Amino acid sequence: MRDENFLKANNARSFWHPMTAPADSLANPPTIITGGAGTRIRDIDGHEVVDAVGGLWNVNLGYSCQPVKDAIAAQLQQLPYYSTFRGTSNDCVIELAEELRTFFEPDGLTRAFFTSGGSDSVETALRLARQYHKIRGEAGRVKFLSLKKGYHGTHIGGASVNGNANFRTAYEPLLPGCHHIPAPYTYRNPFNETDPQRLAALCLAALEDEIAFQAPGTIAAFIMEPILGAGGVIVPHESFMPGVAAICKRNGILLIADEVITAFGRTGAWTGSRLWGVKPDFACTAKAITNGYFPFGAVMIAEGVAEVFEGDQTGKAAIGHGYTYSGHPVGAAAALACLAETRRLNVVENAAARGKQLHDGLLALQAKHEVIGDVRGGRGLMLALELVADRATKKPADKAVPAAVQVAAYKAGAMVRVSGPNIILSPPLIVTPEDVTVILSALDAGLSGV
Ligand SMILES: Cc1ncc(COP(=O)(O)O)c(C=O)c1O
Repeated sequence: MRDENFLKANNARSFWHPMTAPADSLANPPTIITGGAGTRIRDIDGHEVVDAVGGLWNVNLGYSCQPVKDAIAAQLQQLPYYSTFRGTSNDCVIELAEELRTFFEPDGLTRAFFTSGGSDSVETALRLARQYHKIRGEAGRVKFLSLKKGYHGTHIGGASVNGNANFRTAYEPLLPGCHHIPAPYTYRNPFNETDPQRLAALCLAALEDEIAFQAPGTIAAFIMEPILGAGGVIVPHESFMPGVAAICKRNGILLIADEVITAFGRTGAWTGSRLWGVKPDFACTAKAITNGYFPFGAVMIAEGVAEVFEGDQTGKAAIGHGYTYSGHPVGAAAALACLAETRRLNVVENAAARGKQLHDGLLALQAKHEVIGDVRGGRGLMLALELVADRATKKPADKAVPAAVQVAAYKAGAMVRVSGPNIILSPPLIVTPEDVTVILSALDAGLSGV
């Protein structure tokens, strides 16, 4: 490895970072992370902090998960790669599919299609949803509905169902036939409704209205995150996702649960769909499936959808989709070890308990800091602070404000994430009560400076 001076001098010089302007990375050189252990990360200057971002919502078991590291190392020796395209498979991926089938059985999801990450999983689910209708003789069902504020990755399909302008505008025109309904976001919504249950009902009415307007027979699927993540951690009322599922079912529309963040325990339930008592037709997963140690994902498929594909006699069910790394043996080995460890540690319990501690702490910070307009969370370890210039008008804080909070919080001991006016928190699910205290005191220090 080159020395520190070389790394600092060339930071961001020759590669563009995702989700930021190249000039910004040059003006504000990214923190160079060189080590991680447990729930903590360490930078090139030796500064160590609690990682309240959990990598990127994915390092659920922290940075020292030895069984996953060992599984990856062993599989690299055994079989570092082979394709799962027609005619070949590998031992790890067969075993993983059976494990996932057991894990997702309570959600009614019994088949897997493997991918290389979350955006790939979304793309896969959107494509298979269209194909499902074609197999069944409803070729006109091609449109997609989704929520404003939803995040579904960055492929053109995913960006088209995305509900945030900053992931869309620069890349338009996007896929035709994608339509959005208001998110159940109590702090800001077109109905000026602050009651979560009433807002859920209004959003459901908007969904029914949009379906009637588009005509149900033109719509393939509705995609949503059980709890919206990157759009600012929006936790819907418990009636919302079951309401969406019922409307979709009545109209022959498939429901895709984008569980790239929520699967494997983050919400304090094993999946986001299970949290709300919903059985989707597809669930997109990635991220924590390998604890972030290997790029990998899986789309889980409901029994009813599987029967249509597997029972097809027309030839329309041939899947013309897949990735070179679908079912990668090293990713599958990592996922097997990760699932076993996730279960052994019963991470849902800690996610729920520490999530409550963090949520209570954020509410206390809101009472102290005028700049916090809204605190969101209350379901496991996905939380956000929305910063405002003025609580009365809800005018968003200048973008320098969350950035300054982040820098000061980092100095005070916690890495937090900025997304628009929001500070987003998604620590590993193994955080301790002491780690949560550090995150809160670092945020307090950060907020005190703005
Ligand atoms: C809900 C959701 N879907 C899809 C994605 C895209 O996943 P990836 O970045 O692995 O492509 C993300 C990433 O954060 C996500 O949060």
